[in-house]
Amino acid sequence: MSKHLDRLRDEHKDFELNALNDSFAKDPFKAFQEWFDYACSSNQPEPNAFSLCSVNSEINQPSSRIVYLKELRREEFVFYTNYQSHKSDDINENARVSMLFFWPGLQRQIRIQGLASKIPSEESDRYFSSRPRSSQLGAWASDQSRPLASRVTLEQKLKDLEKKFPEKIARPDFWGGYGIAPSRFEFWQGRPSRLHDRIVFEKEENLWVSHRINP
Ligand SMILES: Cc1cc2nc3c(=O)[nH]c(=O)nc-3n(C[C@H](O)[C@H](O)[C@H](O)COP(=O)(O)O)c2cc1C
Repeated sequence: MSKHLDRLRDEHKDFELNALNDSFAKDPFKAFQEWFDYACSSNQPEPNAFSLCSVNSEINQPSSRIVYLKELRREEFVFYTNYQSHKSDDINENARVSMLFFWPGLQRQIRIQGLASKIPSEESDRYFSSRPRSSQLGAWASDQSRPLASRVTLEQKLKDLEKKFPEKIARPDFWGGYGIAPSRFEFWQGRPSRLHDRIVFEKEENLWVSHRINP
């Protein structure tokens, strides 16, 4: 099919950059913060991009896409989006989502499962008002995930909005943040011979309990 795929099929990378030892943080948020900070300070590309998986409740169809982590507050991971998008349709019916961070340069991934809910509107307002004007107009212009007749239609809509909002732009009701409250974390560190380190945290009666699992 592809000469590149043929080559990759025969490639057997060994992971040996790091290990998870017994000094690994006992609190998953602290562990996340440490890995995230390291991903940022070691200049990993797009360190705050994660794959968000939601499930359509009608036919149980999972669906993934990349979004940006914008805040980590009150033990919730916050991202922003259009509240009428497919992901929002999924979340409205089924709040269970899964997040995946992958930092290939560090041979690390973090999987997080949890419940998504809209953050308070004042918090979305605050973040929206901090965005550049072009992004604010973009949020207004896009009926995210709905069919679009042509690119020209979208660009015309943007021009009309520029005239409609000559000054300050209020947040549209259909745009805002979700906070994901985790119930499970898994920290994965690549190791030689496919004997990777994996540490899972699960919430048991409001306490985080961790254990290792097989690679
Ligand atoms: C690097 C990257 C970052 C993105 N960040 C966001 C984001 O923060 N919010 C968002 O709504 N879409 C973001 N997107 C676009 C989404 O992947 C997706 O196309 C869009 O949200 C529509 O998804 P849906 O139809 O499943 O709702 C990003 C895409 C990429 C590649």
